[in-house]
Amino acid sequence: MSENKNNPSVSSKNSLGIKSLLGTEFLSKTQIEQVLKYSFLFKKLLDAGRPVPQTLTGKTVILLFFEPSTRTRSSFELAAQRLGGNTLILTKEGSSAEKGETLVDTAKTVQAMQPDLLVLRHPSAGSPFHLDQTLDIPVVNAGDGFHEHPTQALLDLMTIQEFKGKMEGLKVLIVGDIAHSRVARSNIYALKKMGAEVSVCGPPTLLPPKVEQMGVKVFYELDKAVKEQDVIMTLRIQFERLNPGQSPSRGEYSKFYGISEALLKSAKENVLIMHPGPVNRGVEISPEVADGSRSVILNQVGNGVIVRMAVLHLLTGGEWPEGLV
Ligand code: CP
Repeated sequence: MSENKNNPSVSSKNSLGIKSLLGTEFLSKTQIEQVLKYSFLFKKLLDAGRPVPQTLTGKTVILLFFEPSTRTRSSFELAAQRLGGNTLILTKEGSSAEKGETLVDTAKTVQAMQPDLLVLRHPSAGSPFHLDQTLDIPVVNAGDGFHEHPTQALLDLMTIQEFKGKMEGLKVLIVGDIAHSRVARSNIYALKKMGAEVSVCGPPTLLPPKVEQMGVKVFYELDKAVKEQDVIMTLRIQFERLNPGQSPSRGEYSKFYGISEALLKSAKENVLIMHPGPVNRGVEISPEVADGSRSVILNQVGNGVIVRMAVLHLLTGGEWPEGLV
């Protein structure tokens, strides 16, 4: 596939054309559309109580999670199980990583047990790329430092498509700690490829330098930013990744960058409110908005399982299941 020329992980062994899913930066529009096409098919089958392809029967997915996770880890595990596969979870705590074993040695060790795919969440940006080049099996990036979180962006795109019916021409605002957010980065790459107009808004200390070079519009004042937006995606401040001098007080942050019912009076009536989770209620979003009628936060979680099914299916050579459609 010529569109793969910038992708470091090209493969002819599956219809997606990549060995590993490392980031949305390296996906073409066609590849994103393919993941979404399979995701919507799987959702249709599951909603109708019909069988889904058992692509992973007799196969094992290793989940290497060296950072905390609720949504991503459990949804990859459920996704693999729904496709008939086995899963094995290794966390830093309790594994030999605590005794000083390197990530590469841990990964080579688990590869020797003959799994079929490895999912990695790790604090070091670029670690999935390193494992992709080291291992023979596909690697899926489940979040690497503040670099990328591609399956989060794909599930966000699926949710936008589901509720807005399109992505081309939609105005999407990402609010908050853009500088330390792998979710923001993956969404900016993916949404722009799908034709959305992406803006970001946050305190100057939490926006990456030269962020406009990513092709986004930049706002510093949230009440001006929310006007005319079709989607508002708000983010948790990554307190664990901030230097002491960068960290705003929660009260101050909430006042200037929190999404509240009062703020949404300036927004479109049907604006979609999204958050990748976990949510800091009362900081980046008020409980009323998080639980309100415009919020699709739990729909994002549900779609996370489905998108991850599509990714695992495609990367392990699954085809369009003609017999089940
Ligand atoms: N959105 C997200 O990655 O959530 P978890 O950290 O709970 O997996």
